[in-house]
Amino acid sequence: MGEREEYYDRRAAEYDETTTAGLDAETAAAFAQEMAALGAVLAALPGGRVLDVACGTALFTQHLRGQVVALDQSGGMLKRARARVPTAWLVQAAVPALPFASSVFDRLVTCHLYGHLVEVERVAFVAEAWRVAPELVVIDTAASDLAAPDGWQERVLRNGCRYTIYKRHFTPAQLLAELGGDCSLPAAAHATLAGDSVRIRGLIATVDGTRVVRHELSGPAAAGAALGRSVARNLLDEQGGAELLGGA
Ligand SMILES: C[S@@+](CC[C@H](N)C(=O)[O-])C[C@H]1O[C@@H](n2cnc3c(N)ncnc32)[C@H](O)[C@@H]1O
Repeated sequence: MGEREEYYDRRAAEYDETTTAGLDAETAAAFAQEMAALGAVLAALPGGRVLDVACGTALFTQHLRGQVVALDQSGGMLKRARARVPTAWLVQAAVPALPFASSVFDRLVTCHLYGHLVEVERVAFVAEAWRVAPELVVIDTAASDLAAPDGWQERVLRNGCRYTIYKRHFTPAQLLAELGGDCSLPAAAHATLAGDSVRIRGLIATVDGTRVVRHELSGPAAAGAALGRSVARNLLDEQGGAELLGGA
C-alpha cells in the first residue's frame, strides 16, 4: 500500500467531518452549496451502468442513478460507503488498473482522485477509464490563485500522523486535454416532460466556466420544438451565446 492509499484508509473514520476542517463559516457554507450543486448535476445524469472510482465514503456516489458500482482501495472507506449507498455493488481495488472487462459501463465517474495521481498514474488511469466506459465524468478541485498548480502537501490526521500527498490542480482546458475530451464548448440542453407539459433548459459556457448563459422555458409539450428554438435564440442572440460559440 502506498502512502496515499494508507493516508486515505486511516482517514476514513474522520473523512466526512474533516472535508471542511479549517474553513471559516462562510467558506464552509459555500462548500456545502457547491457540493449540493454537484450532487444535482450527478443526479441529472442518465442512469445505466455507472462506475464510481475512488468513491470514498460515497459523498458523491449517493447521487448517481442506475446500476452503480463503487470502487475504492480502502476497506474503511467502503465500509462507510456501504451505509450511504446500500444498493451499490462495492469493489475493493487499487487504480490505475480497473478490474473490469472492456466497455462494461456506460459512464465512469471519479471525484477528487484524478488530481492526486502523478503523471504516470494519470496516463495509465485515463487509458483504463476509456477502456471500460465511453463517457468520463471527472470532478476535482480546479486551479486557482489560492493553490499551487501542483506539489506535495503535508496532510495530518487527528491522531497526529503525517503524510505527504501529491495534489495537482487543473484548469478545465488542461483536464480536457489530458482526458482526451472533445468538448471545446460546453453547451447543453435538457427537456423534462411532465404530462402534457415540457420544460426546456439550455446553457452555453466558456470552457473555463467564467462565462455561463442559461435560459429555460415551459409550455405545452406539443409546442416543444418552438420552445426549444426560443431557448436557443435567447441564449445565442440575447445573452451573447453566439459570441461564446464564435470564440470557441
Ligand atoms: C479525496 S478522497 C475522494 C473520495 C470521494 N470520491 C469524494 O470525493 O469524497 C480520495 C479517495 O481515493 C481513494 N484512493 C486513493 N488511491 C487509490 C487507488 N490507488 N485506487 C483506488 N482508490 C484510491 C482513497 O481511498 C479515497 O477514498
